[in-house]
Amino acid sequence: MGGKIECFLDISSYFSYVAFADLAQNRDKLAASGVDIDSKLTHHVNTGNNPPWTNKAKAKYLQCDSRRAAQRVGLVNIRSPPDLMAAGHTISPLRALHFVKANYPPATFIAAMEACFIAFWTPPNVNLIPEENLRAVLLGATEKPGRSDSKTLFTEDEVDKIMKSRGSMKDVLLATTQRAVDLGAFGAPWFWVTNDGGEQEPFFGSDRHLTTNIAMTAPELTLIVAATRSMGIGFQGTMPWKGLKREMQYFARVTTRVPASSQAPQNAVIMGRKTWDSIPPKFRPLKNRLNIVISRSATPSHPPSSSPSTTASSSSSAEIRVPSVEAALQYAHETSAGTGARVFVMGGAQIYEAALRHPAAKRVLLTRIDAEFDCDVFFPLDLRADGDGEAAARGWRKRSREELERWTGQEVDEGGQEEAGIKYEFEMWERE
Ligand SMILES: NC(=O)c1ccc[n+]([C@@H]2O[C@H](COP(=O)([O-])OP(=O)(O)OC[C@H]3O[C@@H](n4cnc5c(N)ncnc54)[C@H](OP(=O)(O)O)[C@@H]3O)[C@@H](O)[C@H]2O)c1
Repeated sequence: MGGKIECFLDISSYFSYVAFADLAQNRDKLAASGVDIDSKLTHHVNTGNNPPWTNKAKAKYLQCDSRRAAQRVGLVNIRSPPDLMAAGHTISPLRALHFVKANYPPATFIAAMEACFIAFWTPPNVNLIPEENLRAVLLGATEKPGRSDSKTLFTEDEVDKIMKSRGSMKDVLLATTQRAVDLGAFGAPWFWVTNDGGEQEPFFGSDRHLTTNIAMTAPELTLIVAATRSMGIGFQGTMPWKGLKREMQYFARVTTRVPASSQAPQNAVIMGRKTWDSIPPKFRPLKNRLNIVISRSATPSHPPSSSPSTTASSSSSAEIRVPSVEAALQYAHETSAGTGARVFVMGGAQIYEAALRHPAAKRVLLTRIDAEFDCDVFFPLDLRADGDGEAAARGWRKRSREELERWTGQEVDEGGQEEAGIKYEFEMWERE
C-alpha cells in the first residue's frame, strides 16, 4: 500500500481541528500502510469559504454535527471563541507554524500545531493575533500536548526567532493557500489524496469518514483479557475463576459495540482453537461478532481468499477457521477493519503472544483481577506495573479511566468493583 494525503488546515477552522485529531489518531496506521501525510497551513478566509451561518438552517444543523464530529475523534471541552470572525485572521500563527515546519522535525511541527489548535478552540480560547498571546502559546507548547510531564518544544530564544521570522514566511503561506485553491479548495480543511495507484481525489472538511475513506489501513488490534495479579489467564482449558458475570457482560458489550463511523455491521473477534473449545457450545459463535478461530488444521479452502463479505454476513451462524494468525488478520481486515469496525484478539496465551509481536497490536483492554488462582497459562506481557516495568520498556502505557470510557463507550467504576467476592478493575493500555 502507499499514497499521500496533502492536508490544508487552518487553526481557526473547526473542522480542521477535527480532521487534525482524526489524522493524529490514524497517523501510525497510515504510516504502517505507507501513506505519507503532508500537513500544510492555509488561510481559509482567502480560499473564499462562506461562513456556515450565512445559511440559517445549516448553522442550526452544524451545532449538532460539530459536537458529534468532535466527540467521534475524542476532542473534549471544545468551544468556539466568542469573537471567531476577528480571531479567525490567523495569518500570524500560520506564518509562525510554517517557519516551524521548515526548520524543525515533523513531530515538533505537529505538536506546535496541536498547541495552537488547543489554545484557539478550548476555553479560555486564546486569541492568537496579539504577539504576546502567540508567544506564550509557543513557549508553553510541549512534545505531548496536554501532558505536564512532557518536554517543552522551544526555548525562549527559539520562540524569539520564530516570532521574528514570520515575515519571511509570507510568500510560503500565500503559495500554500494558492495551491489549495488551484486544487479546487473553497475552505479548510481541504485534502488532496493520492492513492497507491496514483489516482487523486479531493476531500473537504465535512467528509466525515476521511480516514476510513482513504485507501488504508493495516488493521488495528485490541487484545482483551482478564488476568490475575500474576497475569494468570487460564487453568486446565478453562477460566481460573467463576462467577464474574458483570465482567463477562463488559467483554460482550465492548467487543460487540461497533464504532458509529463503521460501515461494517459487526466487529471481529480472533481466538485460538483452544479458547473456542472452552466456550460452551450454546454460546458459540459469540453473537453479533465475526468469530475467527485459528487452528493449524483449518483447511486453506476456507476464506479469507474466497468471498469475505458474503462469509461475513453469514458469520453469525458459523465461525471462520483460518490456519494462521496472518490469515486471521487478513480476513478481519477485509471484512471489518477496512470498513471501520474493530478487531479484537480474545486469547488464549498462544494467540496473544503472536498478536503482541504484530505491529498492529495497539491496545490491551485488561481486567485486572485482584486475586490469585491456580493458573497454567499466562498473559505474555507483564502489565503489573506502570512506570519502569517490562510493559513500559516495550512502549506500553496505561491510559486513564476517561480514555478507557471514551474508547469502549462503557462507564466503569472508579477504583474497580467486586463480584462473587473477587475484586477487579478495568484498564486500558496502549502502545506508543
Ligand atoms: N482470561 C482470559 O481473558 C482468557 C481469554 C482467552 C482464553 N483464556 C484461557 O486460555 C486458555 C487457552 O489458551 P491457550 O494458549 O492454551 O490456547 P489458545 O491460544 O486459545 O489456542 C491454541 C491453539 O490455537 C492454534 N494456534 C496457536 N498458534 C497458532 C499458529 N501460529 N498458527 C496456527 N494455529 C495456531 C492451535 O490450534 P490447533 O491445535 O487446532 O492447531 C493451538 O492449539 C484456556 O484456559 C482459556 O480458558 C483466558
